[in-house]
Amino acid sequence: MTIKVTPIHDAFVARIDGVDLRADHSPAVLGAIEEALDRYAVVFLHGQHLSDDEQIEVSKGFGDLSYALNHGRAVGQNTRLRPELYDISNLDEKHGILGEADRRRQWREADKLWHTDRSFIDADTTYSFLSGRIVPPTGGNTDFADMRAVYEDLPQAMKDRIADLAAVHSIWHSRALAGGVDFRHDEIATMPPVIQPLVRVHARTGRKSVVLASHAAEVVGMPLEEGRALLAELTAFALQPKYFHSHAWTEGDLVIWDNRCTMHRGTPFDDKAYRRDMRRTTVQGPSRYASAVAAYGQPQPRAVSGGRSAISAISFFTMASPKLSKSRADTRKAPGPPMTSSR
Ligand code: OGA
Ligand code: MN
Repeated sequence: MTIKVTPIHDAFVARIDGVDLRADHSPAVLGAIEEALDRYAVVFLHGQHLSDDEQIEVSKGFGDLSYALNHGRAVGQNTRLRPELYDISNLDEKHGILGEADRRRQWREADKLWHTDRSFIDADTTYSFLSGRIVPPTGGNTDFADMRAVYEDLPQAMKDRIADLAAVHSIWHSRALAGGVDFRHDEIATMPPVIQPLVRVHARTGRKSVVLASHAAEVVGMPLEEGRALLAELTAFALQPKYFHSHAWTEGDLVIWDNRCTMHRGTPFDDKAYRRDMRRTTVQGPSRYASAVAAYGQPQPRAVSGGRSAISAISFFTMASPKLSKSRADTRKAPGPPMTSSR
């Protein structure tokens, strides 16, 4: 078997042919895919038609999987799939199209905002594997942006400005942006915000990229509006067509992307008329909590004036010891307990 890697964009994205992952997901094959990911950040393989077991098995070859416990649980409904699989569909637990008022519909709406998967947890989410089980006849593409090329093309002054900055990421921020369901306080408490640097050095390739997502609520140590304006400016730069690729799905596709150096979003389709059944496995690295606290201090809630909803309260977080204000040594603190439970 010869593995063929065909670039389909100037900067990123490749199609991989000559691989049947059901028949062979040996370390040699997975190693070749990971090398392609190092270079292209997003790869797709047609005709894989993986079962749940096969998708889980293949993904585990790249590291530990995170569990999708939050989706069904957070919205108080039964899940359709086992916990290793994130349900990226418009289907309910009986495989019927979600009703108009179903909270899971609202939960999925945030997928249509540009994001990186799970940047709101205190560990690196590395690879996402999304398999197309049922694909609607039109629409429902997945769009990608290459955040390495974005970083490399930034003006030097902007590179200098963001070199030591970090953002606060919260899943509730993206949910609020997507139109906000009235999430419960106990739901919100299960997923507190975390800190992500604005510039990440990729552990395998050493290439730098800009870390942005709709989960990014504010910049550590900056007034709220100034931080949001900076995030918006970087996001506008990142969304130029030259960093963009749109994947049109065929049933049986497997698309793998590296969340450390890309952003993505879902796009609309007629989700009341057609089924779209996508299932995602997600590889997660070790916790970064201790190093983040050492660099930036413990996150503390901003003072929030009375009467705000839980969502706006969670979106107004800042750090106790902004790295900006003093030297690192002055602001360094002992690591505290983990901010998130393992999930
Ligand atoms: C995801 C995601 C978008 C889509 O699976 O993480 O954001 O097109 N999907 O379904
Ligand atoms: Mn996603």
